[in-house]
Amino acid sequence: MQHSSALPQIGPYDDAPVLAALPDLPANPPADVTDPAIPAYLEQHYWWAYVRPWAVRVFERPWLVNLILWGWYAPLRDAALAALGPLLPGKTIQIACCYGSLTPMLAERIGRCGGSFDVIDVAPAQLDNLASKLGHGHRARLMRRDSTNLGLPDASYDRALLFFLMHEQPREARARTLAEAFRVVKPGGKIVIVDFGKPAWWHPLRYIWLPVLRVLEPFAPDLWRHEIEEWIPAAHKNGIRVKRSFFGGFYQKIVVQV
Ligand SMILES: C[S@@+](CC[C@H](N)C(=O)[O-])C[C@H]1O[C@@H](n2cnc3c(N)ncnc32)[C@H](O)[C@@H]1O
Repeated sequence: MQHSSALPQIGPYDDAPVLAALPDLPANPPADVTDPAIPAYLEQHYWWAYVRPWAVRVFERPWLVNLILWGWYAPLRDAALAALGPLLPGKTIQIACCYGSLTPMLAERIGRCGGSFDVIDVAPAQLDNLASKLGHGHRARLMRRDSTNLGLPDASYDRALLFFLMHEQPREARARTLAEAFRVVKPGGKIVIVDFGKPAWWHPLRYIWLPVLRVLEPFAPDLWRHEIEEWIPAAHKNGIRVKRSFFGGFYQKIVVQV
């Protein structure tokens, strides 16, 4: 495994080789940044999906991820990749891991251009899973961070991806996560958000799925009643360049220029 002496040592996930220069990290980030506690909402509502190592063994299956998204995994993954673009030089950050092939495909695309790739997640099990999905020789730097307190420098990335994170977070965490994403991406850079949207009135799942979501994903119905833009920092609301809905509004993609 290749190590650059310029690479800061930030934990057990930072040992992947990289081609492009990575953003400098603050010299000695405090422990609450580099070793964050699992947020209360995650432990309380999503322990079974992300936090426990056995959850990874259950959910990291393409057919199951696709089933949970009602058959829309590949179109949504591809929409995220298309929004980021085919050429990804410079610095990319993915804020929170996700099951499926999206991150390995993104890592491959970034690697081809000699770009650098950081992925953060607060759950060690998710970072371990991603490290094994990426395999040896990958070019991503995996960091244990809370999306609401990234501890990364201002304006240090060209683009950020948030794939199905917004609906999992309570409002305050959602707003702080977006504020952090807009803080770390450079002016002129891009933020891509793919998540639940507002299903049309005629959508059958609007009536069938809402009671299920209320139990399993209690913050998700927020995105059925509100636009994600409501949590985008005021200074950036006019940067929205693309807003596309999928599957009768059930899912959405938003691309914002910072
Ligand atoms: C981004 S969502 C993706 C969900 C979607 N069902 C999927 O897998 O495609 C799930 C990830 O968000 C992470 N996460 C949730 N809250 C976080 C936070 N405050 N900071 C960092 N990661 C967080 C979880 O640990 C989990 O890995």
